[in-house]
Amino acid sequence: MKFSLNVDHVAYLRNVRGEDNPDPVTFALLAEEFGVDGIVVHLREDRRHINERDLRLLRELIKTKLDLEMAAVDEIIQIACEVQPELVTLVPEKREELTTEGGLNVLDNIEILSDAIETLHDSNIAVSFFIEPDIGQIDAAAEIKTDFIEIHTGVYANAETEEDMFDELERIRQATKHAKKLGLGVNAGHGLNYQNIKDFTAIQDIDEVSIGQAVIARSVFVGLEKAIKEMLHLLKI
Ligand code: PXP
Repeated sequence: MKFSLNVDHVAYLRNVRGEDNPDPVTFALLAEEFGVDGIVVHLREDRRHINERDLRLLRELIKTKLDLEMAAVDEIIQIACEVQPELVTLVPEKREELTTEGGLNVLDNIEILSDAIETLHDSNIAVSFFIEPDIGQIDAAAEIKTDFIEIHTGVYANAETEEDMFDELERIRQATKHAKKLGLGVNAGHGLNYQNIKDFTAIQDIDEVSIGQAVIARSVFVGLEKAIKEMLHLLKI
């Protein structure tokens, strides 16, 4: 299971003071040195985290893989086509949310998402849909030719009992199996941390996890190198 690091929180910290420190691009380059397999950023319509300068520099400088999370809106799709990340992960986006709150409803947005995929594929960019571990949503995503899905792991991460956690893990396992049968790549993320990742690694078919909050928060205490290496160890990379 590969590990991509989401560096949005570093940009958020920089933006709080309206200055240029800490720089998410420098942070991403260090993270690569310490062993992550890719860098994830979410270019939001309100630019609350990263901005175009960050995105263009990341594109130029990182050597692993750039996964751009974004809403399927024209302005951002155009930027993605110019910047050419290896992967675009389409997510639902609400201005008032603190973070992405749930998966895309592919079934209710077939037309918008098909158009977005077509445009991104025309620019040779692979596409992933951030969705719940739901067979109907996965089938709809495959139908309109997504390359990957990213399974939303929020319900797993926020489960209040062990029983709920293992039920959700089983749901994710079945969804992953189904998506793989359809030929899709399978990533996963949201709320994964140093505690809940261990049981999660039992789902061996998952290609990659995307983690932000837990690793950035831990790096404040122990430094980025240790925070990354601890996570890599848990992922058995
Ligand atoms: N994947 C997606 C699509 C997300 O929106 C987020 C949150 O930015 C993550 C993964 C990472 O979540 P977390 O910061 O909780 O690790």
